Amino acid sequence: MRVRVRRASRLEADVLAPGDKSISHRALLFGALGTAPMEVRNLAPGADVRSTAACLRALGVSITGAGGAAPLVVRGVGPAGFLSPAGPLDCGNSGTTMRLLLGLVAGARVSCTLDGDASLRRRPMRRVLSPLRAMGARMEGQGGPEDERAPLHVEPAPTLTGMAHRLPIASAQVKSALVLAGLAADGETRVREPEPSRDHTERMLAAWGAPVRVEQGEVVVTRLLQPLVLPTVLEVPGDPSSAAFWVGAGLLVPGASVVVRGVDVNPTRTGFLSVLERMGAHVELEPEPSRAGDPVATLRIRGGQPLRGTEILPAEVPSLLDEVPLLAVVASQASGVTRLTGARELRVKESDRLRQLVLGLRAMGADIDELEDGFVLRGPARLHAAEIDAAHDHRIAMCFAIAGLVADGETEVEGAEWADISYPGFFAALRAASGGAIDG
Ligand code: S3P
Repeated sequence: MRVRVRRASRLEADVLAPGDKSISHRALLFGALGTAPMEVRNLAPGADVRSTAACLRALGVSITGAGGAAPLVVRGVGPAGFLSPAGPLDCGNSGTTMRLLLGLVAGARVSCTLDGDASLRRRPMRRVLSPLRAMGARMEGQGGPEDERAPLHVEPAPTLTGMAHRLPIASAQVKSALVLAGLAADGETRVREPEPSRDHTERMLAAWGAPVRVEQGEVVVTRLLQPLVLPTVLEVPGDPSSAAFWVGAGLLVPGASVVVRGVDVNPTRTGFLSVLERMGAHVELEPEPSRAGDPVATLRIRGGQPLRGTEILPAEVPSLLDEVPLLAVVASQASGVTRLTGARELRVKESDRLRQLVLGLRAMGADIDELEDGFVLRGPARLHAAEIDAAHDHRIAMCFAIAGLVADGETEVEGAEWADISYPGFFAALRAASGGAIDG
């Protein structure tokens, strides 16, 4: 699907952020470790979380209801109740599904194959397979000495043994996989990261009675002997990574008025708000009642604020990892230099996001240089229309639609349907809010 975007002369939005993708995956995966039914409200509506649900069903977990606006009920099998699935587990486009499932099945005494689409089959998996094998898991992927990729084959392991892991790169997916395996391992599993990544796994598991604690920045796990004690109802807060597109659009379109409600503002997720503040943006945060143990807020943004470039440091990257594409688009309209380093990980996301960002922004007239682990951008640029390839990447599709709202001419985003991975309905909502600056 191709969408065409023109310069917006207005932007007025009052939207509810769709359910958080990270928390939604975890609600289903951890729900599987309970046995009582848990109703999940405001589950993330995209295809990624549907992939997690389908894989869990194949492992014997009951998940009924559609999710999103409709209620969904998960009734788990407890730590020892998983079944070997009849066919391959299709993780679709979702790295979180594949990596967290590996942790869940590592000690579950099942045989299974985890597979995914062409993009997921290209993503590095040794970072999870290798530490899990060190704990005793029996699993392997395809490929040569450099890395392993899907399809991944898992065989039952007689025992897992806890151990201390030091992750070379901060990664919530790797951390979560090791924590899940630790719940099925003898002894103690410890996971330390160079910088803190999103902490939903440790917070949710600890809140639901799992033997998981955080000691001086290290996650410490022992064996889960009882099913998790789940809440009867879990309200998923809104996704800050989806809300970020509205924040960016609100800041860039002159005269815009944007309100995004129900946004999770867990500090491990809101690095982009700190960076925008440094750039001179004022985003008003009005607290709402907390949900799923996380702080929640309504965000209010007014357009046309003067912005200046900033330095985004490696230590900040884990807290704004998925918002880098949007931040680059905003920085193209800020005066002065914006420099990002320490973000090499973006090369192994759903696409090589650094490459796609630099190619797209340069095609639209931005002065941007690609670094091995980031970019240097000199703004502000008068952007002009270009043909942008979403590169099968939901966040690239959405961030270039925002760029198109402040560019001369008609920007075309090819592959706009990839937005459905995390935010179905995004383009329709943006069309309504911009008075029709988008069609396709
Ligand atoms: C996620 C972790 C992040 C992020 C991804 C979701 C998660 O990846 O990019 O979109 O839910 O755990 P890392 O494993 O690189 O932190």
